Amino acid sequence: MTATVVLDFEPPKLAVVIAQDTFTRELLEVSGELVVQVPPRRLADLTWTVGSTSGSDVDKFDAFSIATSPASKVGAPLIDGCLAWLEAKVVPQPALAKDYDLFLVEVVAAWADDAVWQHGAFVFPSDELRSLHHQSKGHFFVTGAAVDAKRLG
Ligand SMILES: Cc1cc2nc3c(=O)[nH]c(=O)nc-3n(C[C@H](O)[C@H](O)[C@H](O)COP(=O)(O)O)c2cc1C
Repeated sequence: MTATVVLDFEPPKLAVVIAQDTFTRELLEVSGELVVQVPPRRLADLTWTVGSTSGSDVDKFDAFSIATSPASKVGAPLIDGCLAWLEAKVVPQPALAKDYDLFLVEVVAAWADDAVWQHGAFVFPSDELRSLHHQSKGHFFVTGAAVDAKRLG
C-alpha cells in the first residue's frame, strides 16, 4: 500500500513514501525489498482494512485471510486477486529516507493479470476489476474510461 511515483523506465524505478512509524518501514529497512500491488475495486474493503491496521498489532495475512503467492525475486509475497505486482529492491539513499520517508526502488520483476493486461496495455473488462486509487480516509476512485489522444497539427 504505497504512495508511488514512476521515476524512470530503463531500468524501471519508483519513488515510494513509507512512514517511519509503520511495520512496513521496519520490514523494508531490514530486507531492502518490497512489492507494490495494484488492487481492483472488488478489494476495496480489504485495501482499506489492511491500510488502516498495523502489522505491529496483528498478523494481517492471518486476520483477514489474505491468500498470497511467492514473488520471483524478492521475499515479500504477492497478494492474490490484485491486478498487477511490481517486485522491487531499494536503491539506498539514506538521507532521503531520513528526511522525507522517501525510498527509491528499482523494479526487478513485474506481473499483471491477463484479465486486465492485454497487448501491453490495461483493459478493464468489468467495473469490479477497475484499479483502485485512494483519495483519503477510505474514499477511493476507480480508473475510468480509456482515452486515445491524436497528435495536433
Ligand atoms: C489506500 C492506502 C494507501 C496508503 N499508502 C501509504 C503510503 O504510501 N505510505 C505510508 O507510509 N502509509 C500509507 N498508508 C497508511 C498505512 O497503510 C498505515 O499506516 C498502516 O497501518 C501501516 O501498516 P503497517 O504498520 O503494517 O506497515 C496507506 C493507507 C491506505 C488505506
